[in-house]
Amino acid sequence: MAGRLKSIIVNLNGLLKHKHHENFKLSSDEVQTIRNNLKGISSDELGICNFKLNEELCSSTRADISYLKVCSNGQIFDLGVFALKKDCRMPMHNHHGMYGVVKVLFGSGRIQSFSPIRETQEHFSIDDIVDAEIVEDMSVSAKEGSNLMHLEPNSGNIHAITADKNSPLVFLDLLMPPYDHLNYTVSYFELVSTGECRKKCKLKVIPEPTDYRCDQLDYAAVIQDNPSFEN
Ligand SMILES: [Fe+2]
Repeated sequence: MAGRLKSIIVNLNGLLKHKHHENFKLSSDEVQTIRNNLKGISSDELGICNFKLNEELCSSTRADISYLKVCSNGQIFDLGVFALKKDCRMPMHNHHGMYGVVKVLFGSGRIQSFSPIRETQEHFSIDDIVDAEIVEDMSVSAKEGSNLMHLEPNSGNIHAITADKNSPLVFLDLLMPPYDHLNYTVSYFELVSTGECRKKCKLKVIPEPTDYRCDQLDYAAVIQDNPSFEN
């Protein structure tokens, strides 16, 4: 494992070891520390060959979205890579009660983020209407300054991620804690209306879109020929 990735994992384990799964909270300083940790990581340090990954994404048999698991620490965090084929959209979804950091590794796209206006302790049901604030609609790419973003339980917790028309979008995704489909669940949404104030909108909870499919991706398919890391 590359030195930088190893140190990120060691730091995450150290920072999160006393956190409680059922009532997971991070301070703003802790969020900032974790963002700083992930800031400089690249495909190279993950041992991923961008060319091979791009070729994989061009395969017609591969789903529009692929996931490569990098590291998991039980109920505390999941670190993985999402790879979206060009012009593909990850449907609007949330991360109930969770914190997350997205670091773009290559390609480009767009992230639309929303914050639920009322604090949401409860889980959503299909057809619920959620008042939300439009937080960000940002273009992202691997370039510095547009490659890192984070979400918190009540801030930017709902998002849709789309790869550009002519480019795939590949990003490192850290979730704290991971989905457990009990306390930490996912719901899907559609935009119903925007308010008079352009910042406000209503989102409707919908079933998981039937065309949403995510493949598992193996390191073996995308690993560098001469990786600069050891397992
Ligand atoms: Fe997400």
